[in-house]
Amino acid sequence: MQVVVQTENLRMEFSLGLGRGRMVALDDLTLQVESGEVFGVLGPNGSGKTTAMKVLTGLCAPTSGSAWVLGQPVGNVSVKNEIGFLPEHPYFYEYLTAEEFLRFYARLFRRGGLVLSKRVDELLELVGLTRQRRTRLQHFSKGMLQRIGIAQALINDPRLVLLDEPMSGLDPVGRREVRDIILQLRDQGKTVFFNSHILPDVEMICDRVAILMEGRLLAMGPVRELVGSISVRSVEVELESVSSTEIAVVERMAEKVVVMKNYLIAVLPDMASVDEILRLANVHGWRLRAMTPRRASLEEIFLQEVSKHHHEIR
Ligand SMILES: Nc1ncnc2c1ncn2[C@@H]1O[C@H](COP(=O)(O)OP(=O)(O)OP(=O)(O)O)[C@@H](O)[C@H]1O
Ligand SMILES: [Mg+2]
Repeated sequence: MQVVVQTENLRMEFSLGLGRGRMVALDDLTLQVESGEVFGVLGPNGSGKTTAMKVLTGLCAPTSGSAWVLGQPVGNVSVKNEIGFLPEHPYFYEYLTAEEFLRFYARLFRRGGLVLSKRVDELLELVGLTRQRRTRLQHFSKGMLQRIGIAQALINDPRLVLLDEPMSGLDPVGRREVRDIILQLRDQGKTVFFNSHILPDVEMICDRVAILMEGRLLAMGPVRELVGSISVRSVEVELESVSSTEIAVVERMAEKVVVMKNYLIAVLPDMASVDEILRLANVHGWRLRAMTPRRASLEEIFLQEVSKHHHEIR
């Protein structure tokens, strides 16, 4: 597997002005992203996500440490040709139409003629803005602007796509659209590195995630491994044919019971009580409709890591 992004002991300090010292935005950040991965960086406000991305695009030079993209040191012009970037607060020339906007960026990469027209058509299609190609950006909704911003980041057909908070400020439909675009990029074999603090979005589409806090890497790994490292917390079972007098039997074993019209849902604390419920179901003739283990979500892992970190620095 080819390594697309590599950072080693990245440190970034900012001067806070005369006599006010320095602040550490990145502290010893070492990570690797492999070709074809969707890699998510999670972290609260001010944890260094944008700073890390700026280092990767070559917009910011780190105080110390190193970073490579596609095997070359960041900042190299040839690297920039392989990168697409959606900044956190993109600037849009609002009098341009969607199509003009993309053509403008294509020309920055010295693309023209037929290749350019074809690329613009493809990108408008990918981000679902073909019908709005002649609409000025000033009339675009936030979700549409975010999508045209992503199209802009792809104009040079980059191998690595860096997206800083691509879902922020979007409603559930807009977020889903952006998630779908990211998954399509993965299908095309691109490597996607994005920042977010919207955990469910990250959980749904990332191959691996890194959790940043005050510039430090708290945890990194496949979502399933991070989530799986915390064992099953409870099991939800749905039972049919439990008579009203038998409900109390279930209640005695469950953390919670919700009685529906034709069935009930019981949340059981562990596998031993699941075994017991199955035994009772056999005895009483209850029918098992569904059984779902409940695992910790990425949100719980995130909060747990962040609070551990707070304890450590105290
Ligand atoms: N140019 C700068 N000068 C001084 N401090 C800066 C500069 N850029 C960033 N910082 C500081 O570095 C820290 C990390 O900022 P960064 O923008 O990388 O965080 P972030 O994780 O992207 O946050 P958010 O979720 O709010 O976008 C913050 O405390 C910020 O104030
Ligand atoms: Mg940011």
